[in-house]
Amino acid sequence: MSQLQRRDWFSTPIWQFNVKNSQDLNKSLLLIIEKEQRKDPQGLKRSNQLGWHSTTNLHHQKELRDLVSIIDNQTFKIIQEQKWNFTNCRLVVDNCWATINYKYGFSKVHSHANSIFSGVYYISTPNGSGNIFFIDPRPGKMVLQPPLQEVDCSTTQQVSYQPQTGMMLIFPSWLWHGVEPNLSEEIRVSISFNLIWSFIS
Ligand SMILES: [Fe+2]
Repeated sequence: MSQLQRRDWFSTPIWQFNVKNSQDLNKSLLLIIEKEQRKDPQGLKRSNQLGWHSTTNLHHQKELRDLVSIIDNQTFKIIQEQKWNFTNCRLVVDNCWATINYKYGFSKVHSHANSIFSGVYYISTPNGSGNIFFIDPRPGKMVLQPPLQEVDCSTTQQVSYQPQTGMMLIFPSWLWHGVEPNLSEEIRVSISFNLIWSFIS
């Protein structure tokens, strides 16, 4: 009998890293977010509940330049990892918005249409202000879950990340995710973005 061989197909990546010296960056991002909120106190209605959502073009503002360049650097590595042939194109931030979750604010489960990767950067994350969670994208797997010896990345049906100030996550845009309610008294502030490829002429 030959050896039992296992190959894992169709895995789902979520990339995580912490931005160095994020305090200064976060101060300037908070200022621009407050300015945007003064301009448009209503904000947009998307997956956010009991929270404020900015317009989706923040990446064009000069105050976002440093953040966009951090995203560019990391996505360059991701392209190599994904083995994409990107000699004539590159990933670009297509839209970018801030979210403020007040007490009990949360985001319904959603995915991000018309983009390839999405991400979120955390500016203010008080304790208990709500984890982001991702759901196994294979709906058929939900039908029957055998008892587990151990919950890990190959057996779980859902994974959540506790946001930390200065942390960024990048994930496939089709991956269903949501944000738990903010149970702290303070606001939870983050900036999200979508990436798409653009051909270099
Ligand atoms: Fe999202």
